[in-house]
Amino acid sequence: METAKKNKPDTVLTGITTTGTPHLGNYVGAIRPAITASQQPGVNAYYFLADFHALIKCQDPSKVHESTREIAATWLALGLNTDNVVFYRQSDVPEIPQLTWFLNCVAAKGLMNRAHAYKDSVQKNQEAGEDADFGITVGLFSYPVLMAADILMFNGTKVPVGKDQIQHIEMARDIAQRFNHIYGQHFALPEAVVDDHVAVLQGLDGRKMSKSYGNTIPLFLPEKQLKKHVNKIKTNLLEPGEPKDPDDSTVFQVWRAFASEEQTAYMRKEFENGIAWGEAKKQLFELINQELSEPRERYNELMENPAHIERVLREGAEKARAYSVPFMEKLNKAVGLYSLT
Ligand code: TRP
Repeated sequence: METAKKNKPDTVLTGITTTGTPHLGNYVGAIRPAITASQQPGVNAYYFLADFHALIKCQDPSKVHESTREIAATWLALGLNTDNVVFYRQSDVPEIPQLTWFLNCVAAKGLMNRAHAYKDSVQKNQEAGEDADFGITVGLFSYPVLMAADILMFNGTKVPVGKDQIQHIEMARDIAQRFNHIYGQHFALPEAVVDDHVAVLQGLDGRKMSKSYGNTIPLFLPEKQLKKHVNKIKTNLLEPGEPKDPDDSTVFQVWRAFASEEQTAYMRKEFENGIAWGEAKKQLFELINQELSEPRERYNELMENPAHIERVLREGAEKARAYSVPFMEKLNKAVGLYSLT
């Protein structure tokens, strides 16, 4: 298998669930590296807005819709190179739900029983004394199958994801193998790519920055708001002039995610020299703002121009479907669904 793969260049593929507003943690951990990768010549990559996945978590239509616009605008504003990567909206590719069904019919239910997201929900129910499946939809339960279809539809081989998603990629491999075993060799086997060098950003309270902790700094806050948020980052009570431990400080940790090596070394010194928290935060705000102010302007323009975003997404869908339509035809044949004449 390893040798077979060497003949073909890798296809990088990743999905962005369209819920919520992107924050600095998303930016540093996922968006920035993906955009940098999109700018490398010769990449073969698919990035998509996982709006079918959004329906699992959010049943507020206006929120789902708004989030798609925000997230598309974010990626475009930050310089995603859409000539180089295929950037599309999942729901514009009807072959994905078609493939999902085929995969549903080969995926073992027992495999889905082991999915973390599902097991967590069951456990929460049990702790609350509820029925094990209380509030759990089939969508949540079978979500790894949809994710497998996302990946296998384009024969993605390298899938950049966070650690929490590794299990889903392994399930996609498993499902691909089942399908290949029954119907012949149609799918490449995907692998998760987890970048350990990328920072997991701390939030305002020092825990991992995450929407569920309510400790985030949204990515494109207006300048004043950004400043306010940075000022809210939790610090200790050390006075100006007292040396501070950079490695125990969220201010420093966020600094490092935006700084060059030199700037990092400089701030480390400043901490040793007892920089005042107010001053450190002021400089942190300036550093972040410097990186984000231009994209923020483009973001605001794009948000005012959904027709442009829509056009870009349609073009992306066209490119995606140039692959998925003929592939789906082949898969229909493979499972026995084709014309009688
Ligand atoms: N489930 C992923 C997440 O929550 C998003 C996603 C959907 C995805 N489909 C994908 C990621 C396919 C990689 C490949 O982050």
